[in-house]
Amino acid sequence: MRPQRRISGHPILADLGPATVEFTFDGEPLLARPGEMIASALFAGGISVFGHHHRDGGPQGIFCANGQCSQCTVLADGRPVKSCMVAVEPGMRVERAEGRPPLPAAASSRSRPTASSARWRTAGPAPAASTSAGCWPSA
Ligand code: FES
Repeated sequence: MRPQRRISGHPILADLGPATVEFTFDGEPLLARPGEMIASALFAGGISVFGHHHRDGGPQGIFCANGQCSQCTVLADGRPVKSCMVAVEPGMRVERAEGRPPLPAAASSRSRPTASSARWRTAGPAPAASTSAGCWPSA
């Protein structure tokens, strides 16, 4: 088992308790705190490369840490997830996402949005409040 890289005795944050939730990463046993995100548990366990990019093989890991970038994608019990947004479950089997992770069959059968439908969803009138004179301080 790897040594835990956790902060203990933080001067501001409360002690979150011991890591007691067992899971594996590429078959290696690790521990997480109850409710801890996969990315945090991996990093605390000394793992900072969670996979490699499909295009250039670049290492992938924590980047935004708030669910915006997908750099931290791993396979959790066979499903691709953003590891910074999904908590470790007891016995969870986490694996590196090498290249493009497979998508569930149901997702691949959906129709893809067309350029016109995508434009329709993203373009539209500006929110009324942003153009109203009441939003700006008067000169
Ligand atoms: S680090 Fe960006 S989505 Fe997880």
